[in-house]
Amino acid sequence: MSQITVNQSLCKKDGACVAVCPTRTIALNAEGFPEEVPEAGCMLCGHCVAVCPTGALTHSELPDEAFLPASKELPSPALMDGFLISRRSVREFKKRPVARETLEVLLDVARRAPMASNSQNLHWIVVEDGAKVHDLAQETVNCLQSSGINPARLEAWKSGYDFVLRGAPTLVVGCAPADYEWGKPDCAIALTYMELAAEARGLGVCWAGYLTRVAAVHAPLRQALSVPEGHAVCGGLMLGEGKYSYRKVPPRKPLSVQWI
Ligand SMILES: Cc1cc2nc3c(=O)[nH]c(=O)nc-3n(C[C@H](O)[C@H](O)[C@H](O)COP(=O)(O)O)c2cc1C
Repeated sequence: MSQITVNQSLCKKDGACVAVCPTRTIALNAEGFPEEVPEAGCMLCGHCVAVCPTGALTHSELPDEAFLPASKELPSPALMDGFLISRRSVREFKKRPVARETLEVLLDVARRAPMASNSQNLHWIVVEDGAKVHDLAQETVNCLQSSGINPARLEAWKSGYDFVLRGAPTLVVGCAPADYEWGKPDCAIALTYMELAAEARGLGVCWAGYLTRVAAVHAPLRQALSVPEGHAVCGGLMLGEGKYSYRKVPPRKPLSVQWI
């Protein structure tokens, strides 16, 4: 059974659906109308439906109600560049947790990120309780302690300095099936979407590198996070309201680039 249906009275035969299909699942027939090539293996990216200017094309696995109208408003390059380069890792948070409704929006933005072969197989763990975030930091330190950590770090932790999760009130952790080769890049891109969407709402974000690294080798941390069976932790973000705002953008190393 064909998944793709074309309303020939609406179709302008512009070939856009064919051009944008990444798997060549659509071809033009002898009359110039798009037609499904079932053996090509559609990856359900939805581009064919989304690009059609007249709404002539529908896909049985992708109901029309699930599509959003595309934004016509672009931020100016200066606004966008300024926003991107002014983003900072926040390491001092206020105690107030991020509201559930905001987290839902951020997760929804993250699921719009590009993913290899449109896999969409990330699983999210959201820790909304600051005390639980602190317990996860403790479990991370438990592992670091036995695997060789800078003693000054450990002393700092003992005196109440949370170098792991920075006293953040909220933590989002991304997981992917352990045998999925693109889990880490997919998760990093999705978390980057989330980070920028959070920043746009005035929230502060910091990547949870210690926790991610330790979760790969320390089962008690995965248990504390309730990581689903067969999944690996691929990345995480601390989220909350930052205590400080930045007046300047720090310098970066010069670019290393070769033009060919
Ligand atoms: C994958 C990744 C892991 C990171 N892990 C941590 C971390 O565990 N703790 C931390 O304080 N910062 C962490 N950071 C933040 C970096 O230290 C920070 O991005 C870098 O110093 C540049 O500063 P900026 O983000 O303000 O531009 C991480 C960043 C990335 C991309």
